[in-house]
Order: sequence, then C-alpha cells, then structure tokens
Amino acid sequence: MTVHFIGAGPGAADLITVRGRDLIARCPVCLYAGSIVPAEMLGWCPPGARIVDTAPLDLDRIEAEYVRAFAAGEDVARLHSGDLSVYSAVAEQIRRLERRGIPYTLTPGVPAFAAAASVLGRELTVPVVAQSLVITRVSGRASAMPEAETLTAFAQTGATLAIHLAIHALDQVVAELVPVLGADCPVAVVARATWPNERVVRGTLGDIAGKLAADPIPRTALILVGRALAAEDFRESALYDTAYVRRFRGGGE
Ligand SMILES: C[S@@+](CC[C@H](N)C(=O)[O-])C[C@H]1O[C@@H](n2cnc3c(N)ncnc32)[C@H](O)[C@@H]1O
Repeated sequence: MTVHFIGAGPGAADLITVRGRDLIARCPVCLYAGSIVPAEMLGWCPPGARIVDTAPLDLDRIEAEYVRAFAAGEDVARLHSGDLSVYSAVAEQIRRLERRGIPYTLTPGVPAFAAAASVLGRELTVPVVAQSLVITRVSGRASAMPEAETLTAFAQTGATLAIHLAIHALDQVVAELVPVLGADCPVAVVARATWPNERVVRGTLGDIAGKLAADPIPRTALILVGRALAAEDFRESALYDTAYVRRFRGGGE
C-alpha cells in the first residue's frame, strides 16, 4: 500500500500529468483538496472508489484516512492543487506517514505561477531585466512569514515576484512594493488560471487596486509583479544567436 501525493495542476483537468491521471485511475481511495481540484478528475477514479474531500477535515482525520487505507491494503491517490513543492501542506502529511512507516510517492504538477504566465502569454524571466522568480506569499492565518522574507527585501533584488495567497491583502502588497519598485511597475493579477471562470487584470502598482475596486477578486489569484511582465526592449538571449556556437550545433562544450 502506498499514498501517492499528486500535483493536480492549476485547474484545467488536462493539465495534470499522465502519471497523475493513471494513479487516480488505479487507486481505490482518492483524497482531494476541496474546490481547487476539478470535479472532472474525480470521474477518473475506479468504480466504487472511496472519494473524500479533505477541505473540512483536520490533519488528524486526514491521517486517520491514511491509517485506514494502510490497514485495508488500499493505495491512496492524494490530490493537491498545482504542484506539491509549494504551499501544499504535504510536508506535515509526509512526516506523519514516515512516523507510521506508511510508504508514499510524490508526482509533480503544473504550479499556478506557471499557469498564470501561460495565461498572460509571458515569460517571467527576460534577459537582463529579470533572471529570477520569487515564489512568495504574505502572512496568513495558516502560517506567518519568516521575519527576513519580506516583499521589500525580495523586491530589492528586481526579480519577478509571484505572490500567492495575497489577493485579500492587495493594498498591503502595493504599499510595500511601491517605494521599492515604483508606481509604474507592471502588475498582473490572474485569478483561477485555466478554470472556466479565469480572470486577468493587468496594470501597474499605481493603478491595480483601482482596477479591481469595482469588481474585487475574492480568492485563488496570483499577483505577479515585475518589469519582465511588460518588457519589450530587451536584449535577445544568446541561446539562439546565430554567432553562438553550441555543442548541439556542431560546436564544442
Ligand atoms: C495553497 S496555495 C497552492 C499553490 C499550489 N501548490 C501551486 O503549486 O500553485 C493556493 C494559492 O495558489 C494560487 N493559485 C492556485 N491555483 C491558482 C490558479 N488556478 N490561478 C491563480 N492562482 C492560483 C493562489 O494564490 C492561491 O491562493
């Protein structure tokens, strides 16, 4: 028996990996994280599968599901939104499984920031303008931010920022970023990327709050901030430069 943690992707059911879909199809138990995992995926479970929405469950009750399945010798498909490597609460579940000697695997998924970039039709790293991406969030009820991980500090690097779990705190985000990045710095808010009710609002740090004021986005949105979002006049990368001799074009290392 194994618990298979699966990144279910950002929303569109066809953005799960083939491996993830195959695991869902052969596990007699499926635990999924409420409304942020598309219902269509649950239709891939085998007939008679035990399908449990973990949104109303605390960690003890989720652990009890794993223990029950372990005793019954039933593999579990455990779905989380996006990828498992960020903000998925997989770490604490794995720790409990390890204490109990229950085997597990992890299957990655398309993270929300990558889906949002696709929706925007943008690369988040652009030569010279920004070559790093900061995946971050603001303090919330579930977990506080470590002291040194401030938006101000990240903004000072000039990296593109992908700010999660923060749409409710947009004013605070703007107030913290404007002194460092300027009111003209590009921003894109992408809500429910790849879902049927996906929504995109583009603007700057100076006007984004105003653009959202009349029709606010309640949750499940990413705030992307940085000069790369609107960069047009950037140098091309050397990768496809005709004068750039590369190993795979007959050159050396
Ligand atoms: C608990 S985190 C999960 C992140 C997920 N593990 C990932 O890899 O993207 C939930 C937050 O991710 C972002 N998010 C998740 N899915 C999204 C989507 N489809 N569109 C925009 N933002 C999304 C939002 O900021 C949301 O508040």
